Amino acid sequence: MRTQIQKAPQILELLKKKPVGLQQCKTTTSVCVLDSKDAVPSAPCPHSLQSIPGPTNWPVFGSLIELLRRGGLKRQHEALIDYHKKFGKIFRMKLGSFESVHIGSPCLLEALYRKESSHPQRLEIKPWKAYRDMRDEAYGLLILEGKDWQRVRSAFQQKLMKPSEVMKLDGKINEVSADLMKRIGNAHVNGQINDLYCELNKWSFETICYVLYDKRFGLLQESISEEAMDFIAAIKTMMSTFGTMMVTPVELHKNLNTKTWQDHTAAWDCIFSTAKLYIDKKLNRQSDGKAEDFLCDIYHQNHLTKKELVAATTELQVGGVETTANSMLWAIFNLSRNPCAQGKLLKEIQDVVPAGQTPCAEHIKNMPYLKACLKESMRLTPSIPFTSRTLDKDTVLGDYTLPKGTVLMINSQALGSNEEYFDNGKQFRPERWLHEKNSINPFTHVPFGIGKRMCIGRRLAELQIQLGLCWILRDYEIVATDHEPVEALHSGTLVPSRELPVAFIPR
Ligand code: HEM
Repeated sequence: MRTQIQKAPQILELLKKKPVGLQQCKTTTSVCVLDSKDAVPSAPCPHSLQSIPGPTNWPVFGSLIELLRRGGLKRQHEALIDYHKKFGKIFRMKLGSFESVHIGSPCLLEALYRKESSHPQRLEIKPWKAYRDMRDEAYGLLILEGKDWQRVRSAFQQKLMKPSEVMKLDGKINEVSADLMKRIGNAHVNGQINDLYCELNKWSFETICYVLYDKRFGLLQESISEEAMDFIAAIKTMMSTFGTMMVTPVELHKNLNTKTWQDHTAAWDCIFSTAKLYIDKKLNRQSDGKAEDFLCDIYHQNHLTKKELVAATTELQVGGVETTANSMLWAIFNLSRNPCAQGKLLKEIQDVVPAGQTPCAEHIKNMPYLKACLKESMRLTPSIPFTSRTLDKDTVLGDYTLPKGTVLMINSQALGSNEEYFDNGKQFRPERWLHEKNSINPFTHVPFGIGKRMCIGRRLAELQIQLGLCWILRDYEIVATDHEPVEALHSGTLVPSRELPVAFIPR
């Protein structure tokens, strides 16, 4: 998912050739003034898309060369932050023939939110659609559009977005977190875990599978079954092959039956057949009269076809693994560098969860500091630096009229790191979410996206990470094992490229 959304802006038919001109370099203000134009959709607006400032726009390549010079697409979130500093709250960028407009101010985001249509669209993920069309499978939430998206979304909305429903999943989350604790206990050498990110990916994968299929794959056990390994490998292959087909025409891959296309389709075949197997088992078991169940309830209480259920389920699975693991990894990292915050958090956990009791969703309700720590970690080190919207009508935003079809990039990382909105923004200071809450504009913190199409797994992910942190902190002190400045690790990709310099010291 991270890869999917992060790669999205590069996506776009970089190879198509269209004439491009040089853009102007006038800076737009980054100060948040919500004009009346933003509130009144039909107000006349003098400025066109072409007049939005932006980086150098060379013929054919657009800003691609400049971006590559700055460290490539992997570091593009840093380049985006710099561009916002240079050009202000809105700028336009072309990568090859793919043009996008970048938003980095809460007022514009709020204006967009207020004008959002009933079926907001993100960028298309063409390789996924091509596979589904070829195999006559349905689309899931990540790629559906229009009324079909709304129908499937509302089928899952109740179970995933209603707090009281998500709270019921704490038992399953805890079972998997207990396994994670055993794994940390067994796997650490002098407190250090060989590949913590991998372990956290297994933890999030196991959790989402358990919630969806009511099946344990045993990923956190010493030996993993072949079936589970194949399933995980298929998801990895699917994720690693679709990026190429986002930047080169997928039809070409399909027609030439390239290795990328073959691997991609074989991976989806495995994902779909595994998902179908377990969904069928579940539905059959439930027809035997089993009580309340996540997937069966969604299926029976809504008018979804089996194909739709399978497609939506596989995409929930794809969306929920890396994102959650990555956010948990950064929360651990940030706490390791901030022993004071960690101490306060431990105290809150000990005050709320009696010794010997398992932390549960009900406890989390009374843990404001834990919630603030996660929020602050996601502000400082988000797992997804931006999301997108494709405008389905001409829209006035700030000083500009943007035509239908314009791709907007919502730069959540640029928003969260802007000193204008967050004092001492480079510091990990959970207290800001408790004491300065009223002065923080909610549109400056959007790690799960915005509006009707925001992340549907948000509450599940938050509960999972919050409970996971309770489990870890009760048993371990998390300490930094190097003195490198935090920024050294933050730069580059958002997944640390080297071993996380953190140790788990038993309490
Ligand atoms: C910390 C963990 C997570 C983060 C940071 C995250 C972030 C995001 C973001 C930024 C979006 C795009 C929203 C937008 O365009 O406005 C999104 C969409 C989505 N996420 Fe998550 N996500 C996380 C966990 C999950 C989990 C656990 C699931 C599955 C249960 C999930 C499933 C999805 C799906 C299906 C969508 C598409 C929703 C739609 O278009 O209707 N995510 N996520």
